[in-house]
Amino acid sequence: MSANANSSVPGSDLSKAMDAALKPQIPNKIGIIVCSQRSPRACPQISTFVLETLKDFQKTHPSPRPYALSLIDLNDNPLPIFNEPDVPSQIKSASDYKFAHTRAWSELISSYMAFVFVTPQYNWGYPASIKNAIDYLFHEWRGKPALVVSYGGHGGGKAAVQLQQVLEAVNMKVVKDFVALQFPDRAFLYKAAHGEDLNLRVVSEEAGRERVIETENAQAILAGGDATMEAGGNTKDPVWAQESKELCTQFWELVTTLNA
Ligand SMILES: Cc1cc2nc3c(=O)[nH]c(=O)nc-3n(C[C@H](O)[C@H](O)[C@H](O)COP(=O)(O)O)c2cc1C
Repeated sequence: MSANANSSVPGSDLSKAMDAALKPQIPNKIGIIVCSQRSPRACPQISTFVLETLKDFQKTHPSPRPYALSLIDLNDNPLPIFNEPDVPSQIKSASDYKFAHTRAWSELISSYMAFVFVTPQYNWGYPASIKNAIDYLFHEWRGKPALVVSYGGHGGGKAAVQLQQVLEAVNMKVVKDFVALQFPDRAFLYKAAHGEDLNLRVVSEEAGRERVIETENAQAILAGGDATMEAGGNTKDPVWAQESKELCTQFWELVTTLNA
């Protein structure tokens, strides 16, 4: 029998393969989790910078399986300090959760297939808000890929390592290397702490990552004596240009794990 003849037989192997190839694939949802909850805070704009950087990367690096990126803000899903009577790893179904806030959180996290955790460092650790949000669930996290992006005066690496360990405890597939976004100077830290505009701009690959940063940031870096500064207050690299590359590299690890 010829391939053409076979394909016309409904239910044949070839016909099934063609149907599968033609069927539009539902994109995997990847959530960028905004891990701090205080007011004011820098986390939403840093998470948005991460989101926009990854969306830019997505344009030039198509994944074999489509994915869609979006933010998950803990402030949009407020949870009290963990108050479920049962241990989440031991429940059989989401309907076993006692509280509506847990069932809503469970439903949201279940709809995502992978996560990027964007976390500040608080006193050498991660904020209690994200530990609380993780502890509420277990099965909803289990087996899903996770990447940690930390920020702070020195990049928040201590928080990142601790968070990675917690994510392993809920059996997530944690990308080995985290991404640390180090504040360029004290002026930047002050702005972040007060929730002021950090003037973050996506450094497009297409632009060759050579855009000169805005004057305001250049001045801030100048105040901190950054070594890459050129005469006149401009620099070759905008804030977190190198880190953006690292972010895309580690994110690709996450996408690869998701597609495996
Ligand atoms: C309670 C608290 C503890 C902090 N501890 C650290 C720290 O250990 N290392 C650091 O680099 N920055 C630390 N900072 C400064 C934060 O990096 C900075 O305030 C940042 O904006 C916090 O993120 P958020 O605005 O999203 O909450 C701390 C800030 C707070 C509020």
